[in-house]
Amino acid sequence: MGELRENILKQELQKEIEIAKKLEASGKSKQAGPHYRKAAIIYRRLAYISRKENADKFFNNASEYEAKGMTISTTTPYTRAVDDDAIKNMIVREKPDVTWEDIGGLGEIKDEIKESMMIPLVGNKPAYVESSRNILLYGPPGTGKTMIAKACSNMLDAPFFEVKASSLLSKYFGESEKIIARLFMEAAEKQPSIIFIDEIDSIILSRSSDINEGTRRVIGQMLTEIDGFSADKTRKVIIIAATNRPWDLDEALLSRFQKKIYVPLPDQKSREMIFELHLKGAELDSITEESLGRISEGFSGREISVISREAIMNMIREMNPDFHDVNPKTLEKCTLKERPLKKEDFDNAFSKIKKVTDKETIEKYKEWGDQGL
Ligand SMILES: Nc1ncnc2c1ncn2[C@@H]1O[C@H](COP(=O)(O)OP(=O)(O)OP(=O)(O)O)[C@@H](O)[C@H]1O
Ligand SMILES: [Mg+2]
Repeated sequence: MGELRENILKQELQKEIEIAKKLEASGKSKQAGPHYRKAAIIYRRLAYISRKENADKFFNNASEYEAKGMTISTTTPYTRAVDDDAIKNMIVREKPDVTWEDIGGLGEIKDEIKESMMIPLVGNKPAYVESSRNILLYGPPGTGKTMIAKACSNMLDAPFFEVKASSLLSKYFGESEKIIARLFMEAAEKQPSIIFIDEIDSIILSRSSDINEGTRRVIGQMLTEIDGFSADKTRKVIIIAATNRPWDLDEALLSRFQKKIYVPLPDQKSREMIFELHLKGAELDSITEESLGRISEGFSGREISVISREAIMNMIREMNPDFHDVNPKTLEKCTLKERPLKKEDFDNAFSKIKKVTDKETIEKYKEWGDQGL
């Protein structure tokens, strides 16, 4: 899966850079800016899913293109009114449908998070009981961080305000501070509510001094808003941030998240439970969820979901070899043949899916956690 995703991203990247260069060459730098910034986002995405050797290079390229996109926009200002649509697009208004039962494994972590979510909302508690309302979830890709944030919102029946940090810097560049301010304001009006800042590392690429002006302003605005919230002890807005690269985070921002929770790759028992969830309804033959859990060490929940889907499709393909010849108009009446899933279906699926996170990176998470930042 990693390779496929990487190839798709690289194609998108090439397209954005080509468009940007063409526009720039024909004197339309104002239009080129957003394409350069889009390229920066794609580079960052590539960095997340790449091995360490490439990740650093991709991050550097991302900074370069972001700077280029912004320089172009400064000479020919890129303005976009923050209309209500911009805010609306960033807010998931409907209640997320993920529940704690959909998340396999992670036993103690789930309990710890539930507890941190609920304590701030308790009406009668001793004054000395305080719980951080700002929680940072960190860990490898595909381990359930986004699911956890959604399950929290679902559990509390609280509006969920989701912000992708990368879109703050790209799509709405120049308006990002206003959007942040509006977002926190709306969340406060609708409290109890949850603000979920996904990919928080993408706005804070480096602690170095060359971090660009736009990023600096976005961080500044976020710090101001978070501090404003924290000062008001009665406010019932919970801020959850998620990242794959906690070591890239700005220290000032990091210090606002007193509660940092590591969401690791699933252990054997958790993998078994995740397989159970993703194979629900399917019958198994010559293999069990337990054995699948045993042989899938190092795979994330997301990879397990892809393996499950792939194994199911292998079976469906074998049982319905002429499916692609079915007249599309008759699909409604068509019945797919099925049989219990076999070991071979999974062997084939495993051979196609690569682990995204290597041992070295897992050590890096542990070391970072041990620093007790
Ligand atoms: N513990 C789990 N139980 C069940 N499914 C899981 C679990 N973890 C991950 N998945 C599957 O993987 C998908 C991705 O999970 P999620 O988006 O929560 O990962 P993430 O940690 O936010 O990843 P990223 O860091 O890349 O954003 C889910 O939609 C689900 O199908
Ligand atoms: Mg996520």
